Amino acid sequence: MRPVSYALALMMAASPALADTKFEQIKIEAGAALYDGECRRCHASDTDHESYGPPLENVLGRGAGTYPDYDYSIALEASGIVWTPAALRAWMEDNTGFMPGTKMRHVGIEDRTVQDFILAYLASLSTRDPKQISD
Ligand code: HEC
Repeated sequence: MRPVSYALALMMAASPALADTKFEQIKIEAGAALYDGECRRCHASDTDHESYGPPLENVLGRGAGTYPDYDYSIALEASGIVWTPAALRAWMEDNTGFMPGTKMRHVGIEDRTVQDFILAYLASLSTRDPKQISD
């Protein structure tokens, strides 16, 4: 084991809470990088920016198709679903299969870890209490 990773392992063993926060931070950073590559060209993360897709700030727990003044497809607007983590996973995995008629081009992120990272990033853009969002 290299000294640095050994020190890190000791630190994590000594403080599980600290390790949790670190892991969460790393997931958010990885998620941000993945979001940059896969989503940001169509989705600004903050509501002050115009973008082709609806802003995804606070999307966790939001009703689908409810961002004010965004011109959604009928399919999305009429879906009546809420963006829970499970719904967002299904969407990332196969949005066009999950919701035929959506105008978002197909994305196919099947890797659960990649989904986790993007979810961690999306949760970090939320001002809602994550405990209020059910899976
Ligand atoms: C090519 C452009 C494009 C890319 C890339 C893209 N999206 Fe979208 N996204 C859209 C459009 C357009 C809509 C609106 C779809 C509709 O109205 O049917 C949308 C809608 C959504 C919604 C629904 C939001 C709401 O307000 O109901 C979510 C969630 C979402 N996208 C997540 C993602 C994620 C996560 C990624 C990256 C993995 C991604 N999108 C990549 C264009 C894109």
